[in-house]
Amino acid sequence: MTTYTTAWKSPSNIALVKYWGKKPEGIQIPSNSSISFTLKNCATTTKLTLVEQADLEITVLLEGNQEPGFVPKIEQFLHRISGVFPFVLNGKYTVDTSNSFPHSSGIASSASGMSALALCICDIAKEKGLLAEEDFKQTASILARLGSGSASRSIYGPMGQWGEHPDYRGSSDEFAIPYTDIHSVFTDFCDTILLVHRGQKTVSSTVGHGLLKDNPYATARFAQAQENMIAMKSILKSGDLDAFIALVESEALTLHSLMMSSSPYFILMKPNTLKIIESIWAKREKDAVKWCFTLDAGANVHFLYPQADQAAAKAFIEKELAQYCENGAFIHDEVGMGAERL
Ligand code: PMV
Repeated sequence: MTTYTTAWKSPSNIALVKYWGKKPEGIQIPSNSSISFTLKNCATTTKLTLVEQADLEITVLLEGNQEPGFVPKIEQFLHRISGVFPFVLNGKYTVDTSNSFPHSSGIASSASGMSALALCICDIAKEKGLLAEEDFKQTASILARLGSGSASRSIYGPMGQWGEHPDYRGSSDEFAIPYTDIHSVFTDFCDTILLVHRGQKTVSSTVGHGLLKDNPYATARFAQAQENMIAMKSILKSGDLDAFIALVESEALTLHSLMMSSSPYFILMKPNTLKIIESIWAKREKDAVKWCFTLDAGANVHFLYPQADQAAAKAFIEKELAQYCENGAFIHDEVGMGAERL
């Protein structure tokens, strides 16, 4: 009976061109390509202990406390990845996990959580002689994708790109690749996450992706995203912040318009999400700052600005934006370099 122990810290990420919708064939195959900033501070640390045994047994500790609510998700994940590594179904697991961001802050922990777990599993596979070092990160990205699509991108910094695209060499629907062909302004870009609404979302990402199947705008959207990936590539290289702002904000609003045009329709933004957007637009109009927002599948706003503007942007957050956050809460983050073994 062999015991394996390993630990990884893996970050969250924020997509600039969004993944929303899956192809009908395969598991977690995206309908379009996406690209994200990898974050630095918002991360999940997972320590995994696996004792080999015939049956599958899972205990999850969240911030040191038993969390049986997470077990079904991890069990489903292990079944999905058993096609890659059959050994994963035979063992007693202790998944000891904690997030750097407050629990139920409304920040999705699936990208950081699933990528951390995938990396731990890859460590064990490597120790068992089933995985070569040169295949390590790609396999981790495949496993992470099977847990949560966007998690595939968290393996790499400063940016991760996922989904086949003719203009992104080496891109794949199966795994993300690191994306580094970026102007220096983006290598340490700031993202302050404005916590508009803590607590559970009314509609999960899984359900949201599924609704694209019958959304009349879906085909046009997938084509648009592929086009936006081409535009994004040159923006990232040139550092053209005006073009960056226009594309990133359009992507965020398109994501939410897909939710509103699904059947059943739903809205994840809150009144304060719009207040924040309006404040950012007013500030940009008034002072010509190169600051913008993006959204993920929730009410929180990711406020994006260059590192050089940090002092002014932080003052603006305190003065204008914090009032729209639940209990005035926000988290300063910036572009980071991806997951690390502990
Ligand atoms: O990884 P999922 O299934 O939770 O989907 C995430 C989708 C978005 O966060 C809305 C966009 C993205 O590309 O990360």
